[in-house]
Amino acid sequence: MARVRKAVLPVAGLGTRVLPATKTIPKELLTVVDRPILSYVVEEARQAGIEHLVFVTGRAKGAIEDYFDHQVELEDQLRAKGKTAMLEELLAELPKPGEMSFVRQMAPLGLGHAVWCARDLIGDEPFAVMLPDMIMDATPGALAQAIEAHEQTGGANIVVVEPCPEGQAHQYGIVALDGQDGRLNRMTGMVEKPPKGTEPSNLFISGRYVLNASIFDALAHHEKGAGGEIQLTDAMARLMKTEPFHALEYAGTTYDCGDKVGLLRANVAMALKRPDLAEAARAAITPLLS
Ligand code: G1P
Repeated sequence: MARVRKAVLPVAGLGTRVLPATKTIPKELLTVVDRPILSYVVEEARQAGIEHLVFVTGRAKGAIEDYFDHQVELEDQLRAKGKTAMLEELLAELPKPGEMSFVRQMAPLGLGHAVWCARDLIGDEPFAVMLPDMIMDATPGALAQAIEAHEQTGGANIVVVEPCPEGQAHQYGIVALDGQDGRLNRMTGMVEKPPKGTEPSNLFISGRYVLNASIFDALAHHEKGAGGEIQLTDAMARLMKTEPFHALEYAGTTYDCGDKVGLLRANVAMALKRPDLAEAARAAITPLLS
């Protein structure tokens, strides 16, 4: 079975739920404590053994490419001032030459189309998809759990899911299961943004996938689905007729950072987890809540 070495990160989205901040800042670079959201997701990918990241970008997303490059003047300044710990932290995050690729989605045609844009860079091997506005806090990481499930099922497609907050299923992709026994279950269907009251379960697709390259044939139809967009969920449902899909309810906590309250929650949670900040953060936040 081929190892999962590559991940696709669709970063072309406009981030309208967090306007006006996203007017000039890509939503993936909004800050959680002192790091961009994307930095948490890239760390999760690396911990899962991913060797190559394919970013599907769009207009006004150039800052993402710059983030993963040297900032020569800044590095010189830090070096000159002896701020070596900070410098080392910055350098540790940089990819080695050739470990990242950027491909442009030239029109916002949907998540399925964004993933399809990466087809030549992925080639014929299983790969991961990571929705980069989701910070998934887990040990081992959510993607590592999904890759393990992919191996455990002998190479099945894996979709990470979790229980949907009451009344919100119509905003997500929702899966149907062939019975539920433990965290990893065979899927029988999935639907993108089901109308209220028609959802087949309360489990939503939360942002990590391990897919076989055959998904690109399913995506090549360019069929429009929910919201007039080319949906990854529809292509997966098509592929499910010929290949097994499993839903993995991962063990961890998800922060939807593409949402105002989700971003705030991620900031508070990540600050409270940081040994260097937890005490000061708690002291600053607690009085605000009383
Ligand atoms: C996308 C997916 C959906 C998934 C969601 C998670 O939807 O199409 O299946 O549940 O991400 O955030 P979007 O948020 O782009 O509408």
